[in-house]
Amino acid sequence: MNAHHDFPKTTVTQFVLALLGSLFAPLIAIILVVMYIVGIQATHIESKTPAPTGNNTAVAERIKPVAEVSMAAAGGGDVVAAVQKTGEQITQNTCAMCHGTGVGGSPKIGDKAAWEPRIAQGFDTLLKNAINGIRAMPPRGSNPALSDHDLALAIVYMANKSGASFKEPAAPAAPASK
Ligand code: HEC
Repeated sequence: MNAHHDFPKTTVTQFVLALLGSLFAPLIAIILVVMYIVGIQATHIESKTPAPTGNNTAVAERIKPVAEVSMAAAGGGDVVAAVQKTGEQITQNTCAMCHGTGVGGSPKIGDKAAWEPRIAQGFDTLLKNAINGIRAMPPRGSNPALSDHDLALAIVYMANKSGASFKEPAAPAAPASK
């Protein structure tokens, strides 16, 4: 007799508990998500507030990665260089295929004896010969995308590795290369 009465009671209790559970579980999940988001906002507000007031290096550090990303993007493409490549980069990209090994009688980077008479001609002559080409040296190292300034930087880099002490020329006023 008792069993008959108890059994449905238990079932009702279980049902109510299950119902509450199924209502509360998502509720708790929602509360956790909200708390999580509020937490994220809190850390952002924390990190933003002190930055403009004081710590300038912190600002610089925070800005830096962004700048690096955009530079990498600009430097990656070969279309009108938004970022000036260094003499070393230009040399490696274009000039080193010959001047790295001395192919075809090109003065090898680091070979002071080979560079000495060339350096002695003066920087302007070297630049002119790199722009126009000379004997087996193709005009602009066969890379027409290089500006005069690019060539100058590459010559400074190569020659200075080979005994010269040229100064890097200042970047041209207008950044447009050509
Ligand atoms: C295809 C091979 C090749 C490439 C690429 C090349 N060079 Fe040369 N370069 C030569 C050769 C060969 C000579 C020697 C020419 C000679 O005097 O007979 C030379 C000579 C030079 C000289 C000396 C010119 C002089 O007046 O004595 C300079 C400066 C120079 N190259 C700059 C560059 C630069 C800058 C680049 C890259 C932008 C470059 N070269 C890429 C082959 C190359």
